[in-house]
Amino acid sequence: MRKKLHDAAKHAYSRAYAPYSKFKVGAAILADDGKVYAGGNVENAAYPNGVCAETSAISAMVLGGAKKIREIAVVAGGPKLVTPCGGCRQRIAEFADPETPVHICSPDGLKTTFTIAELLPASFDKQNLKSEKAGLKRAPARSKTAR
Ligand code: THU
Repeated sequence: MRKKLHDAAKHAYSRAYAPYSKFKVGAAILADDGKVYAGGNVENAAYPNGVCAETSAISAMVLGGAKKIREIAVVAGGPKLVTPCGGCRQRIAEFADPETPVHICSPDGLKTTFTIAELLPASFDKQNLKSEKAGLKRAPARSKTAR
């Protein structure tokens, strides 16, 4: 993992808004345009409206015009590995290849790396939608008289 990716995720971690959980998370994406896009978790007094760091970083990437995640780094504190939540795994997979690295970090540096396929095996993706459409039969035309 490049230092600039960890630096960006660590900066996002320091800026995260987590007054309710007190659990700050930062994420940074190295995108296909060579740029780094970062985001932190942003909580809300109406708890379910909070967003995860990974989701914030993906929004920044999409708004920046990039199309793919080459690598993503997540920074959080505590002894346990902080891997992306289930919803964020699905959001990362949308813009990644199966082998895309997901770096799990502390503020001090890299702890371990997974691929997104390891974190989200047998995933649902856009191919599922294509195969469903291909399997659909055209509905028989309704007769004008049969109303
Ligand atoms: N959180 C993230 O931002 N990313 C993760 O990978 C795990 C959890 C946030 C959501 C919430 O603001 C706080 O951490 C506690 O769950």
